[in-house]
Amino acid sequence: MTEDFDVKLVESDVRYTPGPEYKADSWLGDYETAYQAFLADPDGFWDRIARELDWIRPWDAVKEWKYPYARWFVNAKLNITANCLDRHVKNHRRNKVALLWQGEEGAERIYTYQKLLSEVSRFANGLRKIGVKKGDRVCIYMPMVPEQIIAMLACARIGAIHSVVFAGFGVTALNLRIREAEAKVVITADISIRRGKAIPLITTVQESILNAPSVEHLIIYRRRKEPPVEIRADFEKDFYGLMEGMPSECKPEVMDAEDPLFMLYTSGSTGTPKGIVHTSAGYMVGTYYTTKFVFDLKENDIYWCTADPGWITGHSYIVYGPLAVGATVFVTEMTPDYPDPGIWWKLIEEQKINVFYTAPTAIRMFMKMGEEWPDRYDLHSLRIIGSVGEPLNPEAFVWYHHAIGKDRCPIVDTWWQTETGMHMITTMVGEPMRPGFAGKAVPGVIADVVDKEGNSVPPGTGGFLAIKAPWPAMFRTVYKNDERYRKYWETIDGVYAAGDLAVKGRDGYIMVLGRADDIIIVAGHNIGTAEVESALVSHSAVAEAAVIGKPDPVKGNSIKAFVILRVGNKPGDKLMQDLIYHVRMTLGPIAVPHEIEFVDKLPKTRSGKIMRRVLKAKELGMDPGDISTLEE
Ligand code: WTA
Repeated sequence: MTEDFDVKLVESDVRYTPGPEYKADSWLGDYETAYQAFLADPDGFWDRIARELDWIRPWDAVKEWKYPYARWFVNAKLNITANCLDRHVKNHRRNKVALLWQGEEGAERIYTYQKLLSEVSRFANGLRKIGVKKGDRVCIYMPMVPEQIIAMLACARIGAIHSVVFAGFGVTALNLRIREAEAKVVITADISIRRGKAIPLITTVQESILNAPSVEHLIIYRRRKEPPVEIRADFEKDFYGLMEGMPSECKPEVMDAEDPLFMLYTSGSTGTPKGIVHTSAGYMVGTYYTTKFVFDLKENDIYWCTADPGWITGHSYIVYGPLAVGATVFVTEMTPDYPDPGIWWKLIEEQKINVFYTAPTAIRMFMKMGEEWPDRYDLHSLRIIGSVGEPLNPEAFVWYHHAIGKDRCPIVDTWWQTETGMHMITTMVGEPMRPGFAGKAVPGVIADVVDKEGNSVPPGTGGFLAIKAPWPAMFRTVYKNDERYRKYWETIDGVYAAGDLAVKGRDGYIMVLGRADDIIIVAGHNIGTAEVESALVSHSAVAEAAVIGKPDPVKGNSIKAFVILRVGNKPGDKLMQDLIYHVRMTLGPIAVPHEIEFVDKLPKTRSGKIMRRVLKAKELGMDPGDISTLEE
């Protein structure tokens, strides 16, 4: 984490208060009352929520906390898919739509809870048949199609640990994630469809598994009909071929509360990405609770989260949370600006979406396009709108509230992380909202802004965002690297240090300012400077590279790289294009630098560490701060 920083907040008194019916009708009721009830009896609070779900065996204790390790719902047995599927089929939601999928050109697919359960069961049986067992790792690298969600749930059904890799990653990034996890099976599709074009995924995957000896099978969902991609050798299996003849019932694996459910790689500030491990019971309870209470989801709501299941937002708030609640989830592969920037609003009108959850980068893009796009459509079905991924700046808040929320819908700006698994800070529905502020801790969570020693900072003063007590959906470790897990709890004594900078208002509302470390959030995607730098350095012309984030009005940040060339290489446009292509192929399109500058020297400490802070200050024309450790 970087050194202390100086922020003095000049507070505005602007508040947006939703109509009283929002609070009156909400699951939560009054925020303060609910929060105090949680504080008075934290275990009792979570116990009551957990009882709303189905368990194979109940818990002996709600939690066991041995800093920094927690166990939740100790000794309970469960299967999360029994709660996401069977619970609804058994009860009154058998014919309710679970997933409503729309592709480009109007293709639509509908899965009721009953149908989803049988598809998941058949695929799970297929996985079992090829030898996948509880605890095995399965890598899922797929576009946003129902099969992606079916694959995830099928893994959970049989206790296999899924590791979903976003389909925008390139060969090296995917290969690293497969090898790190020692995945036994990789599940993919031949193509993804973006903006009317087929983008091949299969070649990336086939290349990624070449030196990944753990992989025993590659399962391919074949979308292209004419001609279909060939299935090669015994090693490759067709997605639907695997399901053929499989029974549509599959006994869920009995999972201990603390058995891993999935892992998900996220960028670290140094070195390789971190495999964040989530377990079964706590994650289920945490995502169930927040989906129900933060989005205030009601039985007949149609809910749309625009994330990709390849990120934590998709895991928690497309798949596990909403299905545990029994919601109708709308999913689309469509991008926000194709065929035109009105497409999302058109979908809201057509599908009568009630709860909509997206990212600031999308909101700012729409803001740039102008209000005439949303104005063409009837958005009155919307009741609650949400935001996640990076700070929702006040201008974007105001636009979102007016142009989309029609000055009526509450905005839930939710702060959380891959590591936290669930929403941690937001302004609960019905409470007054403050543009620029995410809000307060969700009942069940204790959050604060602290200094380096862990002391609460006074209102108006900047500090580090910290969580002061364990919560059910917290990650339990970093895969095969527990030291990195402990670091989160040991950087600031006694608390979980999120790695974000923040400031509290007079009323305790928290404003998140951005990352405190070398992670750059580009269009809501976390990119580690270290990963981009090593991708650049793996090019034969590059000797050294340093990467920084620069503020960008739409994407939040853009990536700028400073590159020192090896002797014998000349800077120029051609080389620049080569480097960009190289990063695209290794890490993927989401990590491509927007700007490359060729330099002769990089600012370093005497111990040889690149001082990105100095580069950034220079780039932005700001004071570099303390440079006493800077080498000559
Ligand atoms: C940032 C995404 C401000 C933050 C769920 C965090 C936010 C990182 C917000 C985690 C928000 C996420 N306001 N910043 N509402 N939501 N962030 O792991 O820097 O992909 O640490 O999880 O995104 O990103 P991740």
